[in-house]
Amino acid sequence: TKWTTKLRYLPYKDWPAEQIADIKQNINNSHWRLGYHIQPSSGLMNDPNGFSYFNNQWHLFYQSFPYGPVHGLKNWTHLTSKDLVNWQDHGPALLPGDAQDSHGAYSGSGIVVDDKLFLMYTGNVRDKDWVRHPKQDGAWLDKNNHLQKIATPLIDQVKSGFTDHFRDPQIIEHDGQYYCLIGARKKDDTGHVLVYQAPNVTGPWSYKTELKFTDEQMGYMIECPNLVFIDDKPVLIFCPQGISQDVLKHQNIYPNAYVVGEGFDWDKFEFSNPSTIKNLDEGFDVYATQAFNAPDGRVLSISWIGLPDTTYPSDVEGWAHCYSLVKELKLIGGQLYQQPVVENNQLVEATIDSKEISAQTKISAAVSGLEGTIKITTEEAEEIKIIIDAPNGKILVDRTKAGIPFATDFGTTRNAKVTKGIKQLDLYLDNTVFELYVNNGELVFTGRIFPQGKKFFVESDLPVTKQRLKKIY
Ligand code: FRU
Repeated sequence: TKWTTKLRYLPYKDWPAEQIADIKQNINNSHWRLGYHIQPSSGLMNDPNGFSYFNNQWHLFYQSFPYGPVHGLKNWTHLTSKDLVNWQDHGPALLPGDAQDSHGAYSGSGIVVDDKLFLMYTGNVRDKDWVRHPKQDGAWLDKNNHLQKIATPLIDQVKSGFTDHFRDPQIIEHDGQYYCLIGARKKDDTGHVLVYQAPNVTGPWSYKTELKFTDEQMGYMIECPNLVFIDDKPVLIFCPQGISQDVLKHQNIYPNAYVVGEGFDWDKFEFSNPSTIKNLDEGFDVYATQAFNAPDGRVLSISWIGLPDTTYPSDVEGWAHCYSLVKELKLIGGQLYQQPVVENNQLVEATIDSKEISAQTKISAAVSGLEGTIKITTEEAEEIKIIIDAPNGKILVDRTKAGIPFATDFGTTRNAKVTKGIKQLDLYLDNTVFELYVNNGELVFTGRIFPQGKKFFVESDLPVTKQRLKKIY
């Protein structure tokens, strides 16, 4: 397929039914599909949207272009779960194509209001000259999972002085007022997070201020801003584009970053004593993480494992990307920790004693004081190599030889350091994705791999335990 702009924005009704059926056929024959990570039923998945708890279940939507592995006319595809592990895909729910979202239902968030879930999203609208006019739109989801869009944009214009890069509203409530954070690119090519305020979710929305979370330069654009509160401390998770290496050392095309404050001023929307800007994930493929304060008191997040403007080997099969496990965010000694939610324990099926492991395996190692290497290999001599210097807190993850190369312009190794030494490693392997948690979430390295081999083995000079995990998809 030659993915012209015309084809990528073709109205859904003009696609032949076979297109999706063909992709599903390829997917059935794929040996790169995942066993317990959320993946698209066809086409491309990107940002997680509307992550929330409503009507006694968890809700999550994914940015989806269902007709191929490219960014095109996006919808929100609806997932629900009782346990944050087993997800049911209900198909596209928030469809693009109306005046307020003619060229895509772009990213946004959800909040429960009375007996409905309110969704706020960006309507990507282009005129006949292909000039973009972003709208911030609303929709209601009722208890029967029926979605009703609001035809009139909630925020119709970009703020003066800003460009058409103005999107990804995160809606939050505080003291009976609603606020939304919007990622925006100013005309002077700097990235900002703007705050709007309304007495009701449906409006009227008015500009309040800019979120003040750092004194550093943020590059030219900020996508997907997410403000959560952990132990009353503000944590902003965001995607700065064009950020200087002096402010944040990163190797991905665009990083997913975070900053933690000691306190928060709700009048000024200002962090007190913000930390430096840090990488949310030290690995290869994480972007657009969405987090929210869940009603059970936890702060939960989920990451897109995929990068913008990057092709992946599964593209040839008509699908691309996946999500991380749902993670719980904590602050321990002022440091952000990300841990797979405890519900994931239900995935454990049995201990593995052999060198050969299942494509769905959790590999753990208590490494205090040790130096060594863990390799996950295949029968095709492919490998993920992890080099550990526990006393010095250093770790290197190498996917150079892990299979079909991709995104190599951004490097095929990643390394990072913790200050107090490495004690514990837990790696979740799921066929073509791994998530490596260091010290129970002090650091996370996430990455895709596309091995030709079908069998996996663990080779290590460190004491390693292996547990087979359930294949649920
Ligand atoms: C981030 C992003 C968002 C946008 C969405 C469109 O990956 O570019 O800023 O809303 O993807 O799919």
